[in-house]
Amino acid sequence: MAFSTTNATNCASSTFITFPDIFGIEILSLSASVVSNFTAQADASLRYTSPSITAEGLTFCNVTVGYTHPGTGDQVIVESWLPTSDNWNERLYAAGGGGYGAGRFLIPYTITTGAIAEGYATVTTDAGLGSDPSSLDGSAWALLSPGNVNLELARNFGSTSLNEEAIITKEILWQYYGKLPQYSYFNGCSQGGRQGLVLAQRYPSQYDGIVAGAPAINMPQVVSSIFWPQQFMNELNAHPYDCEVDAIVHAAITACDNLDGLVDGIIAEPYTCLKEFSPFSVVSTTIYCSQINGERQISRAAAAVVNATWTGMATSYGRILWHGYTPGANLTGTTGFQGGITGTTCTVDGNCEGRYNPLGSGWMKYFAAKDAELDIGNLTRERFQELVLQSVQEMSSFFGTDDSDLEGLRQSGGKLLTWHGLADDVIPPQRTENYYLEVSSSISEVQSFFKHYEIPGLAQCSGGSGGQPTAMFEQLRAWVENGTEPVSSPVTFNGINGTVWNRIVCPYPSKARLEPGCNDPKSAACWSCSPEVLDT
Ligand SMILES: *[C@@H]1O[C@H](CO)[C@@H](O)[C@H](O)[C@H]1NC(C)=O
Ligand SMILES: *[C@@H]1O[C@H](CO)[C@@H](O)[C@H](O)[C@H]1NC(C)=O
Ligand SMILES: *[C@@H]1O[C@H](CO)[C@@H](O)[C@H](O)[C@H]1NC(C)=O
Ligand SMILES: *[C@@H]1O[C@H](CO)[C@@H](O)[C@H](O)[C@H]1NC(C)=O
Ligand SMILES: *[C@@H]1O[C@H](CO)[C@@H](O)[C@H](O)[C@H]1NC(C)=O
Repeated sequence: MAFSTTNATNCASSTFITFPDIFGIEILSLSASVVSNFTAQADASLRYTSPSITAEGLTFCNVTVGYTHPGTGDQVIVESWLPTSDNWNERLYAAGGGGYGAGRFLIPYTITTGAIAEGYATVTTDAGLGSDPSSLDGSAWALLSPGNVNLELARNFGSTSLNEEAIITKEILWQYYGKLPQYSYFNGCSQGGRQGLVLAQRYPSQYDGIVAGAPAINMPQVVSSIFWPQQFMNELNAHPYDCEVDAIVHAAITACDNLDGLVDGIIAEPYTCLKEFSPFSVVSTTIYCSQINGERQISRAAAAVVNATWTGMATSYGRILWHGYTPGANLTGTTGFQGGITGTTCTVDGNCEGRYNPLGSGWMKYFAAKDAELDIGNLTRERFQELVLQSVQEMSSFFGTDDSDLEGLRQSGGKLLTWHGLADDVIPPQRTENYYLEVSSSISEVQSFFKHYEIPGLAQCSGGSGGQPTAMFEQLRAWVENGTEPVSSPVTFNGINGTVWNRIVCPYPSKARLEPGCNDPKSAACWSCSPEVLDT
């Protein structure tokens, strides 16, 4: 087996005729076709840990494999893009998904576009879920029939497709280039972050480096929590205007901005803020409300909703079932899967109803009640908690992703970076911090292979008022390939007064601190990582 050069002419299904047996899998189809003059923009907001880049006029081989697990009737599609050999950097880069989508849609395609522009061979799998955008709320694949979740697809999505994707793609690279990748990487955020952690936990030798942003650890609890504020409002029979909720969040930012000694429009100490600021303290304050284009007073109901959202999903008997959202997180965002967990929609005469985030309502309907017709606007707290607790029990083996034994990853020499915005409006950051602490409590010198970064002001994966860690992927690569251990990572954001701030984020539990005597807090050079008493 020796290919001196690999160019577009090798890009034919005949190159792959010797595709070997993979236990438990039957290959159904393999297509290989040249993609030429591929031109696309990959924006940093969806690459997460790398800056924006444009793929311009690229030629590559698109090898797309369909396979099934005999007996299940599923069909999984793995799509890999292979640069010509003179453009290949001899590395593999796999992209994570988002929402209830595993791959082969906008987010992973943005990641693969960025990766191939940088010379990686790259891959995304749909895990058998399909890539219809509407399936991103789970509606297209979650139910086999009323009452029955498609557990084969939950298993594929939860974990096994990620291992199979790595096995299949490495085989494709071997067949095409005549060699295996020198290094393999995985990058994803949110659902993609959870996928990255599954790889670290269950298939620790597949990737040399994994960067897992805002991971949906304990996904059943996370996505139930997304519905929690709506459940709370339905029970209260009150749906406050978005402007009231926004005004409370802004009041919290104003009250807590200076807790770190620096007024920059960002809450760096959200857990201290919870103790310092009560949403009820601003009830009856008059605000301008854009939804009614006039003045309005903040209602007690709005304060109660924000309080419940920050406290976390709770049972009728007062047990907190999941971490609350942090003060500073935008609770009324409206874009797609981003935030908007307490959002409402109001008519001109002031009748408001809940605006459901499909990740939350989708979980309650398809995975918890297993009933697409469920009237989720009319659940008692008892029924809600019963559904949540059942779904946690039933689905955690697929989606829990909370195994803190990373000894396998350490033994295989893999490196893991996690990061989480402290103003995440979809997945509260507390669980990722706790996961890091759990791993550290069972493995000494955890930072020799696993580091976690908390990013003040950053929303879910991108956005918000904090900066995005766009240098992190290169830092991971330098760690894997050169042993250059990442310490701080730079972030840039638009601070108050319309100016650009450059700062660093630090491996938890250290925090970025302004150097004494340094007079330009907008400059990253003024900041260093210092060990810190944990803010709990
Ligand atoms: C390549 O694509 C660009 C932009 O889509 C287009 O302007 C250009 O004409 C194309 N070149 C060729 C050789 O097709
Ligand atoms: C790669 O091939 C698959 C299967 O034909 C196709 O669905 C996909 O759109 C192709 N991707 C590109 C970038 O051409
Ligand atoms: C809510 O559910 C109860 C009990 O099933 C039912 O009697 C009531 O009509 C429902 N209310 C609405 C608004 O659907
Ligand atoms: C590794 O170190 C070499 C030599 O300093 C450098 O050229 C290369 O860019 C580094 N690789 C990475 C991924 O940082
Ligand atoms: C922002 O502007 C206000 C008012 O001009 C000023 O007092 C404050 O120092 C500025 N903050 C920063 C961080 O530049």
